[in-house]
Amino acid sequence: MKKPFYPLIENPYRDKDIIEGIKILKSKKLTIGPKTDEFQKYFSKKIKTKFSIMVNSGSSANLLAMQCLINPYRKNRLKPGDEVLIPSVCWSTSLWPIIQSGLKPKFVDVDLKSLNIDLNDLKRKISKKTKAILIVHVLGNCVDMNKFMRITKKHKLILIEDTCESLGTKYKNKFLGSFGDFSSFSFYSSHQISSGEGGMICCKSNSDHEIIKSLRAHGWSRGLKSEKKIASANKHLDSRFIFYNSGYNLRPTDITASIGLSQFKDLNKFIKQRSINRLKILTKFKKNKKLSKVLTFINTTRDVKAHWFGIPILLSNEINRNKFLKKIENKGVETRPIISGNFLKQPSIKKYKLNNQAKFKNSDLINNHGFFIGLPTNYITDKKIKKLVSIFEESI
Ligand SMILES: Cc1ncc(COP(=O)(O)O)c(C=O)c1O
Repeated sequence: MKKPFYPLIENPYRDKDIIEGIKILKSKKLTIGPKTDEFQKYFSKKIKTKFSIMVNSGSSANLLAMQCLINPYRKNRLKPGDEVLIPSVCWSTSLWPIIQSGLKPKFVDVDLKSLNIDLNDLKRKISKKTKAILIVHVLGNCVDMNKFMRITKKHKLILIEDTCESLGTKYKNKFLGSFGDFSSFSFYSSHQISSGEGGMICCKSNSDHEIIKSLRAHGWSRGLKSEKKIASANKHLDSRFIFYNSGYNLRPTDITASIGLSQFKDLNKFIKQRSINRLKILTKFKKNKKLSKVLTFINTTRDVKAHWFGIPILLSNEINRNKFLKKIENKGVETRPIISGNFLKQPSIKKYKLNNQAKFKNSDLINNHGFFIGLPTNYITDKKIKKLVSIFEESI
């Protein structure tokens, strides 16, 4: 297949990342091990989160956050039917872990200026049954976190930050993912850094950390701080094989941890190059009179230093989105919906009878008129930007 002229993502792996992976392969110790520990510690130190636990995907991180919230070892655990707020522009596995954990999602519309959750709709949607909120930081941008945190604190909501699309973004010098009780990150190949597949879940309390670690690995007591205590309370069992909790196997391998860590160490470099590229691209687009009438670009929210990984665009009403996207795709510009558009439009929502018919005006608009293109981490030439802009111009 021909390489697209402007792909959503360039191959994210440098030779030095792959060499780290090869070192692990050569050690023949491929399962979870010291590299995973090293990555977790490094991650916590940089992002300033208390605990970081690496998993095999961002989806698994979201699942573990929800499962931790309902776990019988958790004090004040959530009960079946408790409400969790979630923006209607979200990813599939931002949502499903809520349902898979017996909780009730309540959708909130988004704000067209930031593409993130709409704070006014959020205030309207909070009820006595609302116990938690899963916020999605979209494509590297976020809401005014001061205002948002004021709302969550006032209503004593547990906060889960789905930061799968926003690693490296800071609000007032504080990394996204360090605000919530839990936060999830994804290292899938289209995100800010990549380990192939992989993710991280961060949490703030020692007890949540213990629960998540056991859920990640079969419900095992192995490696927990309380391992000895659990063993002495279960003398009838082989102390090496005690299943203290329910569980999954969502562990990463040291191969993915070593590649992820190698990329993570260059996070600042990626942020810098993407910001330079974004500025260059947007400047060229905005200078074009024809395009600036029909394309809306999304500004970074105030006080945010964003690590955008794509360039979201809203088309004006008079442009037929599907026809336009087909034309630019044919000319080598890869596109995709903003996350998955309005998730309430998906057939799985209908099957599980989750739509209460409420209107989500802005999410619909993003669904019907929005898309995004890539934002490379390599140096981008003026010639390439010029061609990108002219492909858009010819296709309008
Ligand atoms: C907002 C959001 N949450 C969660 C995920 C899931 O991450 P992963 O692909 O690592 O499972 C994604 C994936 O693209 C995402 O965009």
